[in-house]
Amino acid sequence: MIVSALCLMGMMAGCSPEGAQQGEVQAAAAAQIDTGKVVVETIMARRSVRQYKEWPVGRDTVQILLDCGINAPNGMNKQPWALRVVDDPEYIGGVTEVFKKVNPKMAGEPGFKNMFRNAPTVIFVAADPVASSSPVDCGLLGENIMLAARAMGLGTCCLGSAAAFMQNNPGAAEYLERLDLPRGYKLLYCIAVGYPDESPAAKERDASKVKFID
Ligand SMILES: Cc1cc2nc3c(=O)[nH]c(=O)nc-3n(C[C@H](O)[C@H](O)[C@H](O)COP(=O)(O)O)c2cc1C
Repeated sequence: MIVSALCLMGMMAGCSPEGAQQGEVQAAAAAQIDTGKVVVETIMARRSVRQYKEWPVGRDTVQILLDCGINAPNGMNKQPWALRVVDDPEYIGGVTEVFKKVNPKMAGEPGFKNMFRNAPTVIFVAADPVASSSPVDCGLLGENIMLAARAMGLGTCCLGSAAAFMQNNPGAAEYLERLDLPRGYKLLYCIAVGYPDESPAAKERDASKVKFID
């Protein structure tokens, strides 16, 4: 089928060897446009999810997300990041108990299950402050993870506040220590991961922030 489509395109391109090559290139480009469409659709459909099914996320699945993350572009390929995954309910519940004491109001909100927006799996992203590109690198890594997750039917939420809480609250120190981060690394943010139990609508974006310069 693909071969005949290529032949057809080759014929349309003039039947010469060069024409056949042009047909192949055009067919490959057309196939990429379709793939590109899927990527664009995934980007536009991703939303922060804050309610999750209680189903665990398999570690093989999480591993794919991590592989996508560390394949993000990063300054001079220094990879100035450290990723830690926690799916242990004892850990998540334990640090959430600390959080609840400090933030009783948030803990009392309807649907509150844990401080990671109720997700069963959390990816912690830490940065090496010595590398000036690390905040950008870690951000790009996170978006790769969140888009891959979306493409695989998972929900995610980037969480700055949970990381700040763990970084700054003495009661959470033992949980930060258990992450076993390299010396000097700072916990930058977390990514909540799980099977979504809500489908939030897109929040409005301000298109006036974008301009073509002639
Ligand atoms: C750096 C960063 C920190 C964030 N921190 C939190 C957070 O602490 N809690 C939370 O619920 N959402 C957090 N978010 C998610 C944003 O609120 C969300 O991305 C934004 O409102 C746009 O919505 P959308 O992701 O559904 O498009 C964070 C997002 C980013 C990029």
